[in-house]
Amino acid sequence: MALTAVKGFNDILPDESGRWQYIEQTARRVFELNGFGEIRVPVMEKTELFCRSIGDATDIVEKEMYTFVDKGENSVTLRPEGTAGVMRAFIEHKMYAQDPIAKLYYMGPMFRYERPQKGRYRQFHQIGAEITGVNDPLADAQVLNMLTSFFREIGLTEPTLQINSLGCPECRPAYRAALRSFLEERIGHLCDDCKRRLVTNPLRALDCKVPGCVEATTLAPSVLEHLCGGCDDHFSSVRRYLDLSATPYSINSRMVRGLDYYTRTTFEMVTGLLGSQSAVAAGGRYDGLISQLGGPAIPGIGFAMGLERVALLLGSQEFATQPDLFIATMGGGERDVAFRLMDGLLKSGVRVEMDYEGKSLKSQMRRADKLKARYSVVIGENEVASGRASIKRMADGFQEEAALTITGIQLLVKSVKQ
Ligand code: HAM
Repeated sequence: MALTAVKGFNDILPDESGRWQYIEQTARRVFELNGFGEIRVPVMEKTELFCRSIGDATDIVEKEMYTFVDKGENSVTLRPEGTAGVMRAFIEHKMYAQDPIAKLYYMGPMFRYERPQKGRYRQFHQIGAEITGVNDPLADAQVLNMLTSFFREIGLTEPTLQINSLGCPECRPAYRAALRSFLEERIGHLCDDCKRRLVTNPLRALDCKVPGCVEATTLAPSVLEHLCGGCDDHFSSVRRYLDLSATPYSINSRMVRGLDYYTRTTFEMVTGLLGSQSAVAAGGRYDGLISQLGGPAIPGIGFAMGLERVALLLGSQEFATQPDLFIATMGGGERDVAFRLMDGLLKSGVRVEMDYEGKSLKSQMRRADKLKARYSVVIGENEVASGRASIKRMADGFQEEAALTITGIQLLVKSVKQ
């Protein structure tokens, strides 16, 4: 039987990795401009970390984690998301003792046992950012502005920002109770999952895609009408800061998140272009998480974007690196000249390809086309004797003569590059 990758786990081939690198580099540039530094944490953690942070009653913990017992009889889990591990590290290394305000970003694979489809995989990649130690709504706005800038810098007008507030431990119980009694009156219309969620996590019913549940919850009470004074003020200030920085957003009071640690501001960058996988990035505030994990009472806020989903939105733009020059030869001794030239040009930073197999001139030129080389040169006896050659611009066939030296070619290829 042929060996293939595990279902839902993908290879990223060189054709596509240019696009991934572009996304990663843009994120690094935008995040570092905002004062974020990279943190790298393990892909595997003790299972308990995710139960205590994401929450036992969430889909992720109930159904989706890659959990197993290792050879030392410890229950370990491949991380389904990044925030829990980053906060575990923040606490474990007492990073707060030096400065409670930490601005951290990370990128890497995450694992969830979900049903694979376009934009949803079992191994997927997130790029995330977290700020600890700031209660002020200004931090919420900075995070949202940074996320918006990322999408602008990368050249996407989709997705768009939706925000909500989920309140705090003071006001959420009353909202939960109001929603529960609303749902209980309509229990006959709810799906089995939502009937179960009624007890454990009634807010999730607002997120259910089953048509009966969507209809039954149309007139459900809004979380925004149940916020306490503190949460209401916080949410107003976030909106004011977003307005001050002209960041476009809309309010979606039905947005609930699939992780339990959120308090107050939550948000998603949504798109209509990826079918049912509408969230390209998502996040929120988690003021109780650090203390819940055994650290001091320090608030936090952050987000993560799905790299595969960003890559899908970027579509088929060309990100592969093209050679600057393809050197074709007529064979024989000219190959030595070509090889020396290629070696010198590579060392001087010009991307060069040449024929490896002594193929016909026609097939060498076909390869130059296939690789999308910007220039080509043919080296034959005459060129070697005169020390000069015609360099052809592949886009329009324009030819210019240059000295067959590293500087001669470098000058021509680089000057036209700018
Ligand atoms: P999340 O909403 O679970 O939040 O995931 C964030 C993003 O990861 C999603 O919006 C989506 O783009 C991507 N994603 C999630 N699951 C998959 C999947 N199976 N396949 C492909 N992409 C996926 C979190 O993970 C939080 N840790 C975000 C956060 C950071 N909140 C605060 N700080």
